[in-house]
Amino acid sequence: MQKLPLNLYPEKMRKISQDESKASNFSVAKEFACFMASTLGPQSAQKVIVGSDFQQYILTSDGKTILQRFDLAEFKATHPVAQLMVELAKSTDDEVGDGTTSSVILAGALLTKAERLIDMGLHPNIVSEGYKKATTKAIEIMEALAIPVKNDDMLKKVARTSIDTKYMVPGSGKQKQKESKSLADTVLSAVHKVSESKNGVITADPDNVHVVKKGGADIFDTMLFSGFIVEKEALHPSMPKYLENVKVAVLDVPLTVKRYDGLFGDLSSCSVKMDSVEQYKSQKGDERSVLYDTVGKIADLGVGLIISRKLMDEKIGKPLSDRGIIAIPAIPTKEDLNRLSKACGARIVSDIGQMTSDDLGFADSVRQKRYPDRTVHIFVETKKANSATILLRGGIAHALSDIARAVHDALHTTANAYNNEILPGGGATEMYISAQLKRYALSIKTKKQLAVTAFAEALEVIPQTLAKNCGADPISVITDLRKDHAAGNKYMGFDTIRRKIVNMVDNGIVESLITKKQIFKGADETSRIIMLSDDIIYGNVFQDRIEEKTHGQ
Ligand SMILES: Nc1ncnc2c1ncn2[C@@H]1O[C@H](COP(=O)(O)OP(=O)(O)O)[C@@H](O)[C@H]1O
Ligand SMILES: [Mg+2]
Repeated sequence: MQKLPLNLYPEKMRKISQDESKASNFSVAKEFACFMASTLGPQSAQKVIVGSDFQQYILTSDGKTILQRFDLAEFKATHPVAQLMVELAKSTDDEVGDGTTSSVILAGALLTKAERLIDMGLHPNIVSEGYKKATTKAIEIMEALAIPVKNDDMLKKVARTSIDTKYMVPGSGKQKQKESKSLADTVLSAVHKVSESKNGVITADPDNVHVVKKGGADIFDTMLFSGFIVEKEALHPSMPKYLENVKVAVLDVPLTVKRYDGLFGDLSSCSVKMDSVEQYKSQKGDERSVLYDTVGKIADLGVGLIISRKLMDEKIGKPLSDRGIIAIPAIPTKEDLNRLSKACGARIVSDIGQMTSDDLGFADSVRQKRYPDRTVHIFVETKKANSATILLRGGIAHALSDIARAVHDALHTTANAYNNEILPGGGATEMYISAQLKRYALSIKTKKQLAVTAFAEALEVIPQTLAKNCGADPISVITDLRKDHAAGNKYMGFDTIRRKIVNMVDNGIVESLITKKQIFKGADETSRIIMLSDDIIYGNVFQDRIEEKTHGQ
């Protein structure tokens, strides 16, 4: 009788043993969390990310920005667990727009504790179930601890806490604090500007706030603009510098003769045979007349500003300008085009032949501004629209990029707290939940008790890391905080700017409940996925997917 081959895995597929793969999963996750830890909170370190050409670099303490680099082709994190950690950061950012570093650090701490329990002989399923139970309870405790937002002052504190995490670098003094306060005020005004009532509840969508960076002035020159700022020059230098009560056309098609009328075809796919100079001249004449027809149509509709994501034929610049129209080609991103169309109330047009006055939007004014460095911004003002732009000024380009990231996070977390609830920051919430969970664990009669206790201990990683990052002694900070929380001082946390334990609510270091919930949920889910996966097989295992894709095409 012929024997079946005993080798389950094909030649080109390799399997990593359970022990080996578990160890590597845990250590990659911990390594990742450790790498990110130094960037948590104010006064933390920054990472310098240098491109392989050594030409470009980013200076940042923003977790998402750092982790995004692990997602790029040239620097792709190859270990599946590393990719899971990158996804955790991404999903936290997508869901709540802040809290990326905390979620990764917390996931790392949960896995460190889980590994110890598994080594002690606890089955990963039990640890996972215990963690799930602990998360549910932690969220319950968090909700009970949260304070409803009653006024602007509380929201300003949320914005300030978030901005400080990237703005207050080691050595920052009083001047920086003033700047951070002023940025927080601008963030809050922006959130107010985009707030709206939906089903009787007032909420704010931070995606309606556009952030534009422009160096060369003072941070106090940062301003909130009601409308959209286009970081582009007009198509022709003679176009008007200022218009009022403007009809706006927003296009997602090129404004050239070749694409929209089909008369001469797309030159990249066909060629036109010319037999004589007369024929060439006549074709050029036809092209010109098509362009002029288009200009006529735009002018007849009363358009004052025409903006496209695609290119515009330079020949059209002068005739549009002669009719008092400003044209702006090649808006960089689809999101910008969407925001602009939303701000003006314009429909995005993809066939200029079909454009009607119903497609047009409105702007109170359009103004071109040229800066001393010769760059131009076009300010499209829409006073009534639910849309705003923060024009960030000051600082060198790299610092400004990190400030823009701080403003982005602050916008999101302040919008999350809008008409919602807040929690004490500086590790106070984590210490409070930790103390409560440890007590709750004692009521659990099964082995899950160990996992719930481990979860509670893992939460201490947040105040511990905050203390370490600003140069304080993490052990004494944790011991003192434990004492405070055992005595029922639920708002006590560690202020990294003053380097001491204070009442976080009294000192205005507060965070959004929604953001914190997402951090806990994300970290818990990711840690459980990682602890429950045992084998790793690798090789050409996705060939079927590639084939499916090619067949489908
Ligand atoms: N003055 C402060 N003192 C101590 N902790 C602070 C202070 N300001 C903010 N934090 C804490 O910093 C943490 C957020 O840091 P951050 O670097 O923004 O990471 P994340 O990407 O997780 O938002 C939160 O735990 C918050 O409570
Ligand atoms: Mg943050």
